[in-house]
Amino acid sequence: KKKITKICCIGAGYVGGPTMAVIAQKCPHIQVTVVDINQARIDAWNDENLENLPVYEPDLDQVVAEARGRNLFFSTEVDTVIKEAEMVFISVNTPTKTYGEGKGQAADLKWIELCARQIAAASDSDKIVVEKSTLPVRTAEAVKDILRNTGGGVKFQILSNPEFLAEGTAVEDLQQADRVLIGGENSPEGKEAIQALVDIYAHWIPREKILTTNVWSSELSKLTANAVLAQRVSSINSLSELCEATEADIDEVSRAIGADSRIGKKFLKASVGFGGSCFQKDILNLVYISRSYGLTEVADYWEQVIKMNDHQKGRFAKKIIKSLYNTVSGKKIAFLGWAFKKDTNDTRESAAIYVADHLLNEKAIISVYDPKVKEKQIQFDLNCLQTRSEEENRSLVNVEVDPYEVCKDSHAVAILTEWDEFKTYDWQKIYDSMLKPAQVFDGRNILDHEALRKIGFRVYAIGKS
Ligand code: NAD
Ligand code: UDX
Repeated sequence: KKKITKICCIGAGYVGGPTMAVIAQKCPHIQVTVVDINQARIDAWNDENLENLPVYEPDLDQVVAEARGRNLFFSTEVDTVIKEAEMVFISVNTPTKTYGEGKGQAADLKWIELCARQIAAASDSDKIVVEKSTLPVRTAEAVKDILRNTGGGVKFQILSNPEFLAEGTAVEDLQQADRVLIGGENSPEGKEAIQALVDIYAHWIPREKILTTNVWSSELSKLTANAVLAQRVSSINSLSELCEATEADIDEVSRAIGADSRIGKKFLKASVGFGGSCFQKDILNLVYISRSYGLTEVADYWEQVIKMNDHQKGRFAKKIIKSLYNTVSGKKIAFLGWAFKKDTNDTRESAAIYVADHLLNEKAIISVYDPKVKEKQIQFDLNCLQTRSEEENRSLVNVEVDPYEVCKDSHAVAILTEWDEFKTYDWQKIYDSMLKPAQVFDGRNILDHEALRKIGFRVYAIGKS
């Protein structure tokens, strides 16, 4: 029976870092090394000051503090670490393609292929290769083909082990996973590889929560899970617009339908739109795959989830403009929150970026406060859109470290992220410092709207009239 003593993980990002930290914490007898080509990222993971870790997640600093230097290491020595490991996780990014065939939809598998080739070149002993990245169904076939044809006689087993953690709750999700999914080949060698990975997770995950399937089911389940979750958000967001037209209240509707145990109450929170590095990317990928098999209706069905989300973000921006007498040119608008959800410093695909872009097209002046996102990141996100020059973004958008400064002299405050601290602000003080009529646009429905109205604010909330 194969016993794993050394693990290598390629990719020290939002998934590779926290996932390996928890494996190392729970399996002190296994040496876990996370490698990356990005030297700055590895340096940050090795930083003495745990506040400088490249990923912010509640409790992650404690897990890293416990395991780092004991059996958890971060390194840029990719080849050496691969060579010594019995199991290699691939946890690199798989963003949407920005060029060529499938541009804007298909997953860019450039980095996955590079990893496969690097593993093949660096290996001189048999290895289990684990796909941790989210991949299109049947990617393992390509990975296998590369490994088996360039690996010089070394035997590889390929497993699919998608990650279901959500940012902001990564450590908790990893320590108490609803399930762990492992897909592998139905051969004696395949089963042995599956068992080796099951044994690792079994150190802290109850056996009945470790599901094993064939490789293709595992790959497709990850895309499907994200598509279904995003679909719930788009469904509730679509109905939020109907609520605004009918005096129904989306939070009341959510509570009423969520009480049905068949529906369940989670993931029914109306918002300014979902963001994050996964939902949009994975659905676009699902749409692309479906189209490539000629399944037009399937593709159209899932594409609608994205269209509704784009509509929701645009609708929020338009609402702000309309409420400010159809002109925001030269007006200061305060943004509370920039991250795509609370308790993370990740801004990828955050609704805030698109709402800001829309308002900037109308020449608004935007002032931003986010407890975990720095100015450099905010400017970077806007520059990536290539809607206007970097100078223009710098002159129209300013970032403050004090939320009260952000709100001061503004015409409107928009809540873009559901950070808990926003609820505890002195809203009277904010009101007093703003231009009148002072308006609040609560894109997350987290504030006490009645209390705000009593102070004198005009309040717009998602799915309420
Ligand atoms: P990320 O961009 O934060 O991290 C990826 C890292 O891989 C980067 O640091 C990059 O430098 C490194 N890398 C790329 N190519 C490399 C190479 N050849 N050798 C060494 N390092 C290399 O991405 P992420 O958010 O951690 O996502 C990784 C994968 O996990 C994606 O497929 C994503 O879809 C999936 N996923 C993400 C989440 C999430 O919440 N972010 C959740 C589940 C699954
Ligand atoms: C998601 C999946 O949940 C996770 O299982 C997968 O591994 C990666 O993708 P993540 O993107 O990190 O995780 O966060 P998630 O909590 O799913 O939120 C995604 C977006 O949807 C956020 O912008 C969030 O604010 C939004 N959302 C979520 C809502 O607007 N309403 C909800 O009810 C839930």
